[in-house]
Amino acid sequence: MKNAIELLKENDLLRVIDEPLDIDLEIPHVAYVEVKKSDSKALLFTNPISKRLNKTYKTPVLMNVFGSHKATNLFIGKDADEIAKEIEDLLKLKPPVTFGEKIGMIGKLFSLKNVFPKRLNTKGECQEVVIDKDRVDLYELPILTTWTQDGGPFITMGQVYTQSLDGERKNLGMYRLQVYDKNRLGMHWQIHKDSANFFHEYKKAGKMMPVSIAIGGDPLYTWSATAPLPHGVFEMLMYGFVKGKSARLVKSVTNDLYIPEDVDFVIEGLVDPSKIEIEGPFGDHTGYYTLEEEYPVMDVTCITHKKEPVYLATVVGKPPLEDKYMGWATERIFLPLLKTTAPDLIDYVMPENGVFHNLIIAKMKTLYPGHAKQFMHAFWGVGQMSFVKHAIFVNEDAPNLESYEDLSDYILDRVQVSNILISEGVCDALDHASDDFAYGGKLGIDCTADNVFFPKKEIISDEKLLKLVQEIEPGIVDIKQYKTYTKTPIVVIAIDKKEKIKNVYERLSAIKAHTKLLVFVDHQKNDVNNPYMLIWRVVNNIDASRDIYLQKEFIGIDATNKGEIEDFPRRWPDDTDCDMEVLTDLRKRGILDIDDDFIKRFYL
Ligand SMILES: Cc1cc2nc3c(=O)[nH]c(=O)nc-3n(C[C@H](O)[C@H](O)[C@H](O)COP(=O)(O)O)c2cc1C
Repeated sequence: MKNAIELLKENDLLRVIDEPLDIDLEIPHVAYVEVKKSDSKALLFTNPISKRLNKTYKTPVLMNVFGSHKATNLFIGKDADEIAKEIEDLLKLKPPVTFGEKIGMIGKLFSLKNVFPKRLNTKGECQEVVIDKDRVDLYELPILTTWTQDGGPFITMGQVYTQSLDGERKNLGMYRLQVYDKNRLGMHWQIHKDSANFFHEYKKAGKMMPVSIAIGGDPLYTWSATAPLPHGVFEMLMYGFVKGKSARLVKSVTNDLYIPEDVDFVIEGLVDPSKIEIEGPFGDHTGYYTLEEEYPVMDVTCITHKKEPVYLATVVGKPPLEDKYMGWATERIFLPLLKTTAPDLIDYVMPENGVFHNLIIAKMKTLYPGHAKQFMHAFWGVGQMSFVKHAIFVNEDAPNLESYEDLSDYILDRVQVSNILISEGVCDALDHASDDFAYGGKLGIDCTADNVFFPKKEIISDEKLLKLVQEIEPGIVDIKQYKTYTKTPIVVIAIDKKEKIKNVYERLSAIKAHTKLLVFVDHQKNDVNNPYMLIWRVVNNIDASRDIYLQKEFIGIDATNKGEIEDFPRRWPDDTDCDMEVLTDLRKRGILDIDDDFIKRFYL
């Protein structure tokens, strides 16, 4: 990590905090706040302590390394769009005809040799210090507890190296790892992920599964671990491609897995596939807790590290966070690969407040009837893109996908009941809104056609509309209208829910003449004047197959929390809220320089 720290310093992207701060809540809260700022920097905490364990740590904690577009580009080494272009060129590679083309192709292919990782026969820098099984103590590492309801401390930036039972296929994935005690870790590889797939092979064969977890080193290892490559493709190839240089790997001390020679820590171990344990809860990147689930456990067989390691971590919660920047790079770099299954796709965005899998907006060249719907099915059927819950497709004449105001006007001028598709399919394992785990409703909106008919709505003021709706439903506390000049005027309704929202929506059809889209949220934890957080809430909280009501040009969306009223079969999780005592104390000590408005704006 030392090189990364130098690079951050040279680019004025690092703040060093020498004040002793606790690994429980304090350090994560400071990092959480920092990355929400428009000029956010990486943070190096040089004096981590644990009041709970009565410990001080020599190892510094580094957070938010990918905390801005600038830092992300710096660690990826070039502009993400440039890499996408290189991938596109390779995918389009045709047999050369002219001499010039032949020379050009040799260059391209020659550069590909750097893609494959190199296995070294030596020990790595990451193995300068070896702690054998008997002396292993995970509590000697400054592993953070980020949220008050978390089940314990979690490693949040672990590069998890695994291989198939026959050793032929390798994988690198980033999964959080819960510390159960001094030598056991929970393996949160979700049901759809590659290591879970390998795990089933070991389980079937009744064999122990080796795992090596690396932390730190080149930040590009960490980003590569998150890259959604197809099953069977080793993410170290992506590292080599992006870096233009092979990763240099060394063998772990107690198993056959190879890890990068220059990472800061390696935790090696074995997973007994016959054992399973409760993992979580954990405050997740959806801004909600993921609740307790069963996951495999690793017994640590050895820890190795550099002489002077740095512990790398991230904090996830409500957006915007570090994963916004990591996900942005992934979104850009994977565009050409996505185009191979959806050839007329022009571009796409996954807005940060849609926490990636909850919302995608895609621009396409529409060539025939049903083209957008064909893409919806393609997306919902492809790798990790299949987790996307809500997909909106726009035509090639739509505004730039980053111009959210213009783009939303374009979309709202084209939303009508007949171009809404509600389907079902796999959902991200973190999704809390569906009745079933990892399976639920999908919403696709085809906004590619502009020859649609819209009855004109008579817009009235918020005050008048509030009076009208309160006469029908006294539980409505507040409303705010958005985009009333478009063909789909929206009313956001904050309600103190006492019955099924569907009944309220039906009664409110009396106001049909004044609006088209009703969005219901609980008044307790939402601010109708905060569109950024409203979008976050809505796309998180709905399952399209249950929560969208359609009448002719009068649409209702129930984005309230579900529970007994709806006979919701699972437990609805809490939001990841900061501990206000900790925040207040950090503000008093001058470590956080935020005001009450900042706390409100980001629902801290
Ligand atoms: C900060 C962060 C934390 C993540 N935590 C997890 C996790 O705990 N479990 C998981 O399955 N995926 C997690 N992911 C997503 C995976 O890293 C991602 O899906 C990756 O492509 C998985 O690799 P695989 O397909 O090789 O399994 C996380 C991603 C980020 C950016």
